[in-house]
Amino acid sequence: MNETGRGENGRRAVAPYTNDMPPTQLVVNGQPRTTEADPRTPLLWVLREDFGLTAAKYGCGIAQCGACTVHLDGQAVRSCVAPLARAAGRQVTTLEGLARGRLREAWLAEQVPQCGYCQPGQIMSAAALLARTPDPSDAEIDDAMAGNLCRCGTYLRIRRAIHRAAQPGAAKP
Ligand code: FES
Ligand code: FES
Repeated sequence: MNETGRGENGRRAVAPYTNDMPPTQLVVNGQPRTTEADPRTPLLWVLREDFGLTAAKYGCGIAQCGACTVHLDGQAVRSCVAPLARAAGRQVTTLEGLARGRLREAWLAEQVPQCGYCQPGQIMSAAALLARTPDPSDAEIDDAMAGNLCRCGTYLRIRRAIHRAAQPGAAKP
């Protein structure tokens, strides 16, 4: 890793493990995982660079866009600012591990994705919303999704897709 925090291939490198603390153990998409990355490393980099789970995206790095959203014990979190230590011993779910039958169908039916970059984060936030509010109102959707930005302007499609996924006849995850 050079002074820019990026490795030889230009990708941001996971900070090396440099102290005497034990490796971090966590459960990712139902699988027990261990990493020797520095516990201060943002969870996003561990998921992408250590574990090869690249659905969560880097957008802003300051918890302002939602592209990096994953679930920590079922709660949507911004993995770009969540240190690895916060995930120790907990359940992490990424889009790769999300049971998303009804969301996938709804997203396709409403033709939500445009460039697609923000969509993994959008779907993770939508899944967390539906888990706690099975039939959300427009206001509840807007409130829950407010932290997920889309430069392609798919907000109305996202809202329709969430309503579609909430319908009683929608495929279950
Ligand atoms: S990359 Fe994490 S919120 Fe933007
Ligand atoms: S689909 Fe392009 S940024 Fe959201």
